[in-house]
Amino acid sequence: MSKLVFIGTGYVGLVTGTCFADLGNTVTCLDISPERISKLKEGIMPIYEPGLEQMVINNSKAGRLSFTTSYQEALDGAEFVFIAVGTPSGVDGEADLQYVRAVAESIADVVNDPIIVINKSTVPVGTGDWVADIIKKRRAGKPLDFSVVSNPEFLREGSAIADFMQPDRVVLGSTDREAANKVAKLYLTLRCPILITDLRTAEMIKYASNAFLATKVSFINEIANICEEMGADIREVALGMGYDKRIGHHFLDAGLGWGGSCFPKDVKALAHMAVLHGTHPQLLQAVMDINRNQRRKVIFTLRRALGNLNDKVIGILGISFKPNTDDIREAPALEVIHLLQNEGAIIRAYDPQAMPNAREVLKQVTLCENPYETAEGADALVLATEWNEFKQLDFERIYQLMRQPVIMDGRNLWEPDRLRCMGFKYFGIGRGINNHCD
Ligand code: UDX
Repeated sequence: MSKLVFIGTGYVGLVTGTCFADLGNTVTCLDISPERISKLKEGIMPIYEPGLEQMVINNSKAGRLSFTTSYQEALDGAEFVFIAVGTPSGVDGEADLQYVRAVAESIADVVNDPIIVINKSTVPVGTGDWVADIIKKRRAGKPLDFSVVSNPEFLREGSAIADFMQPDRVVLGSTDREAANKVAKLYLTLRCPILITDLRTAEMIKYASNAFLATKVSFINEIANICEEMGADIREVALGMGYDKRIGHHFLDAGLGWGGSCFPKDVKALAHMAVLHGTHPQLLQAVMDINRNQRRKVIFTLRRALGNLNDKVIGILGISFKPNTDDIREAPALEVIHLLQNEGAIIRAYDPQAMPNAREVLKQVTLCENPYETAEGADALVLATEWNEFKQLDFERIYQLMRQPVIMDGRNLWEPDRLRCMGFKYFGIGRGINNHCD
């Protein structure tokens, strides 16, 4: 097996490094945060990802997985080094590559043996060449034998381990085919399709994939908005569409739209690249506009249901950008809360996993311990994230707890008829106008 190094212990680096250790490789994960590294050494995770904690503990105990803040220690004898640091959005929507640059320079400063540098972070098309150029210039006096390979990740938060262990495909790009073949060997045991292409094409596959998935979600949200006016039920529409193998059932769930650390950043970055290269990304712009408007639907709906929102108490169920993660970056709930507070609403909120992160950013919000406390005295209850634990709530109890029985189901998690029959004013996303009670 090989010695791998991962620079960056976030959602991508820590998960991928740990999974590679689980496959039998010797893996060192490096981070510049001493606190994060010391916690990892104690088996304390910096992120919530189902199954990760146990896998980290098992592989650390087996001696396959270690953590350090020292580039020297990490890179000593390494054959592969993965760059897995953040590439946040800059002011103009471009990908901020300062962390990638810092890692490339640190690698150049300490490595003397042949090494393959692998870009795991989502980086703009052309970054592979840029990383190679940084290393070359940094080692002008003492040339280094290295190659750069692009290896974009397709992990979804909340199912990242499964997505690594059963990938639909592995994508590799490089000007050095032999280096790409060596990286491909690391994935052979996963027995999945491995596409080897050039650097720019591999980088574009990542952006195009995420942008397509975001487009699919914005598409179904647009259809949902039309359904709302025409009395069709988007859940059934999506079901009927999805049987067509060319469409498929995935990513056709209408709701408050997409958030997270990837779709918003990647769609913006791709549109930015397009504009900088003289093309006009009208579709990507529309995809982003539709997504932003989905959050605003909550305000329009609650104004219709409650009138003026000033001093109204609104309970928010779910803060993370999607279930099974504690990640609240670009979460629809955050924007909905911000918009509601702008109208003078008083917010109560609860999330099964994201409360520690929410506490850091939410101001003037009553953070609750459970859904029922969130509903207490509320004039409306908004579901922002479709956590499993919200599926079977005791709505009799919710009804008693609320001041007004208004439900805004932002993820179409519940059945309109059932709630309407209980006396709730139910609002979903494109759920048609059937108001009958069985
Ligand atoms: C995404 C890509 O799926 C993954 O391949 C890439 O590596 C990283 O970005 P992630 O952002 O973790 O993964 O979550 P994903 O499950 O793709 O959902 C993205 C957003 O779309 C979430 O906010 C989710 O709520 C929303 N979504 C997804 C919908 O609104 N409707 C859907 O049908 C599916």
